[in-house]
Amino acid sequence: MAGPVLNVNPSDRLFVLTGAGISQESGVPTFRDGGGLWRNYRIEEVASPGAWQRDPRLVWEFYSMRRQVAAQAKPNRAHAALAAWERAIGERFFLCTQNVDDLHERAGSRRLVHMHGELCKSRCDTCSRPPFPDTQLYPEQVPRCQCGGRIRPHICWFGETPFEMDAIFFQLENCTQFLAIGTSGLVEPAASFVARARGHATTIYVGPEEPGNRSAFADCYLGRAGEVLPKMFALPDQIA
Ligand code: APR
Repeated sequence: MAGPVLNVNPSDRLFVLTGAGISQESGVPTFRDGGGLWRNYRIEEVASPGAWQRDPRLVWEFYSMRRQVAAQAKPNRAHAALAAWERAIGERFFLCTQNVDDLHERAGSRRLVHMHGELCKSRCDTCSRPPFPDTQLYPEQVPRCQCGGRIRPHICWFGETPFEMDAIFFQLENCTQFLAIGTSGLVEPAASFVARARGHATTIYVGPEEPGNRSAFADCYLGRAGEVLPKMFALPDQIA
């Protein structure tokens, strides 16, 4: 049976939201599916400002482990499909990922924002020094800034404000097609993006099971991202 097809016309603007599911076929565990590497950690105990105050060493142990997993992973066919769509429609494409790995970039995506931060960046928890690239592992000792503050992962933790929200809302208001891939639809604010878009955009979800916010989507295609996405994108015939 033929899979779903997304028809993109010259006037369309496509907003894509990705979650942990798109990296699952690269071997990066999701958060809320059973099992996986994160099962030894309760996410609230390692991904919140309270956790950082209580036990920064444990927080760095968790993010060091995630840096290692992400470094070993390779982009999969779903990441590659999105990068190809971007090449085809340029500035009419916008990718918002909740993922902190860099698999989208490594597949070739450029028009993207990481609303929950980036695994391979760190910043000081005290001074205003900008976030900087950092792939080091700190499983034992919490690194220090020159100012005396502690270096923390450049990640949006529970209770913190996600990054790039102005750009995201602008793109949501202006899109004509909204496609969410591999996200459980349980974590705000991303879970409400579809509701903001659906008044003026077609809304589609792709993943192996229905997300928690299924009722907000017009269409839901059940399948793994790496199987569905490569066949999904159709451009209208170009006029010579
Ligand atoms: N292809 C597509 N989707 C998949 C695949 C796959 N191969 N495998 C699993 N999924 C789907 C699952 O069905 C699930 O709905 O990916 C989703 C993963 O959900 P979560 O683990 O909740 O991840 P996500 O929605 O990205 O979490 C949001 O929560 O913990 C925080 O900051 C963290 O960014 C994360 C946020």
